[in-house]
Amino acid sequence: MGQVGTTEVVDGIGILTIDNPPVNALSAATRQALADGFGELFANDEVKAIVLICAGRTFIAGADISEFGKESKGPDLNAVFKTIEEGTKPVIAAIHGTALGGGYETALVCHYRVAVPSAKVGLPEVNLGLLPGAGGTQRLPRIVGIEAALDIITGGKPIGAKKALEFGMIDALAEEGKLREGAIDFAKKLVAEGGPLVRVRDRQDKVEPYRGKSEVYAEYLKKNARAFRGFKAPFNIVKAIEASAELPFDQGMERERELFLELLTSTESAAQRYYFFAEREGAKVPDLPKGTPEREIRKVGVIGAGTMGGGITMNFLNVGIPVTLVEMNQAALDRGVGVIRKNYENTAAKGRMTAEQVEQRMALITPALGLEALSDVDLVIEAVFEEMGIKKDVFGKLDGIAKKGAILASNTSFLDLDEIASATSRPQDVVGLHFFSPANVMRLLEIVRGAKTADEVLATALKVAKTIAKVPVVSRVGPGFIANRVMAPRSYAANALVLEGPTPSDIDAAIFNYGFAMGPFAMTDLVGLDVIGRGSNERTLSGDLVKLGRLGQKSGGGFYDYDEKRKASPSPVAAQVIADFAKAKGVTATGALSEQDIVARLLYPVVNEGAKVLEEGVAIRASDIDVACILGYNWPLYTGGPMFWGDTVGLSKVVEGLKAAGIEPCKLLVEKAASGGSFTRG
Ligand code: 3HC
Ligand code: NAI
Repeated sequence: MGQVGTTEVVDGIGILTIDNPPVNALSAATRQALADGFGELFANDEVKAIVLICAGRTFIAGADISEFGKESKGPDLNAVFKTIEEGTKPVIAAIHGTALGGGYETALVCHYRVAVPSAKVGLPEVNLGLLPGAGGTQRLPRIVGIEAALDIITGGKPIGAKKALEFGMIDALAEEGKLREGAIDFAKKLVAEGGPLVRVRDRQDKVEPYRGKSEVYAEYLKKNARAFRGFKAPFNIVKAIEASAELPFDQGMERERELFLELLTSTESAAQRYYFFAEREGAKVPDLPKGTPEREIRKVGVIGAGTMGGGITMNFLNVGIPVTLVEMNQAALDRGVGVIRKNYENTAAKGRMTAEQVEQRMALITPALGLEALSDVDLVIEAVFEEMGIKKDVFGKLDGIAKKGAILASNTSFLDLDEIASATSRPQDVVGLHFFSPANVMRLLEIVRGAKTADEVLATALKVAKTIAKVPVVSRVGPGFIANRVMAPRSYAANALVLEGPTPSDIDAAIFNYGFAMGPFAMTDLVGLDVIGRGSNERTLSGDLVKLGRLGQKSGGGFYDYDEKRKASPSPVAAQVIADFAKAKGVTATGALSEQDIVARLLYPVVNEGAKVLEEGVAIRASDIDVACILGYNWPLYTGGPMFWGDTVGLSKVVEGLKAAGIEPCKLLVEKAASGGSFTRG
């Protein structure tokens, strides 16, 4: 059994403890421990019932994702499950932490499930582009019914123990902190009362009423068309759940297997599994010494209560950290605080917060005029206007006010952090914390490491990200850092391509069909052409449209025309402006392009820019670029992000495409293409 599993017998109850840190994933070693442990306890005549429990922070958190796609070693999971389910002694799963995926499927082959109130159970495989492949799609519907199973498995969200009890997903709650005792008592009672060996697979009552009702599934897919677009897993999940009603259990299991394998070998799932680890890699900085101390952040200051400052403040209020919010004048301060309140009240109106919680969070704000109010905070985040002069002025003053050891952060989008830091006598305490708008919602946080940023400050910034539930990606100083910089070439390419013949609708459709929520022209119209073009002195296409009063949706027209309901239609006026601009620039139309060609023209330059960011050492690794684009720009998750996608397309093809469009591929990209290398595979 190795060190992963241990058995003991207490008052006739066999206890198998799995201890495979960090999350007791079902690796070959865990499967072996289950096979050996159950083998031993079933064979022991002294044992009347068995409790399966885990050590550490959680019950089994699922299959070992890092084993997928590799040669399978150790015992087969379904064979282990068969031993448990068909065993002649009742088996009780004792759940704490998170019983997810294969972990919850393990619990489902046990005859009973007991959990502490803080535990969560669920089948999150959909998030990895998979379906529950160890019976979850066949057993869960037999407990909760088809409709609930569809929501639970395509939603992939863990469910709290109390809710799970209502659903029948667990059978009993144990007292918090006393799972072992609770499960043993449950087992003893079962033995004393001669409780039945309940096998979920034998139940038919919840699925039978759905036999032959194919319309249920068709309607479900229709209802969720938007959320499922581009993904493969939800469709196979629905088919597998349908099989639970249509087929006898064993045939249903075979169908589940087929549908699982189809997903396992898909690019979409490979991309989503890659992304699972990519998100967790972002917090790892190779040259940051292990054990670097972190400073304590008990109180935060935010300067500027505008679009970003307000959202940034909310992140801290949400986790109970008080914020001193500084503005230039009372009106701006009142407006900023008012927007925060409104946001919370809207959440409360949707029933996701109580009125009391709104007041609790608002009470954590200390509104202030003047930077002097920041003398006692541990971390200051500056979110004032994007102008070097103003930022340097603010940091210069802060230097004289902030306490020793306070971290001074800037939310600048494009400015040189080192220059901002030079306005202080303590550049080692300066770091960039680049949030994305809306800052209270978007999960990405780019942490910008200045030339002089101390290790301790970087380590603390990473800790702050975790505290406020952001996904960090570390960037060196460079124009636009990672996400904004890497995505900018998409806009340049769109503006160039639209002069060559493809219309805004053609380009937007190609990008939408690739998987983005919206194409670049629809996005420009939404944000406002005046906003996007701000600060540019050159003649631009957007500038020409703005001159005609075409500011986008808000003025009834931009690249498209809009009706009162803001429904877009192609605009003859915009088409003329585009044609005139093309003529003035001497661009001749090349005619229509396929969607694939349009995608290549817009997105290969993103791959190229990503390669440059790596070449320059601005990003630590390719996966950080993918995380930044997926979380910062809603790049479709199932493509894995620009770098993973570039590898999927093939880097030689990307290089050729760039050259054909007159763009010079960067050295790193050319080298990788020539050597058959990749950014993200191995
Ligand atoms: N396989 C391999 N490694 C895993 C893993 C898994 N299933 N789940 C977590 N890990 C690793 C993480 O990569 C991380 O490693 P690191 O420390 O080296 O970065 C470490 O475990 C800790 O994970 P987190 O940082 O995410 O820890 P948290 O405490 O924040 O969260 C968790 C714990 C809720 C269990 C979360 O890790 C999680 O959601 N894991 C994935 C669960 C999942 O998707 N299970 C289904 C797997 S697919 C499956 O079971 C198929 C089956 O149907 C056949
Ligand atoms: P904004 O204009 O909405 O807010 C700026 C606020 O700062 C205003 O309320 C202004 O009154 C206040 N302010 C200006 N000077 C001040 C001073 N000396 N002391 C106190 N308050 C002062 O701007 P926004 O959009 O919030 O941007 C702020 C910063 O965040 C900029 O650096 C911007 O580049 C960056 N950023 C903006 C993003 C966005 O999507 N809007 C995304 C990420 C970063």
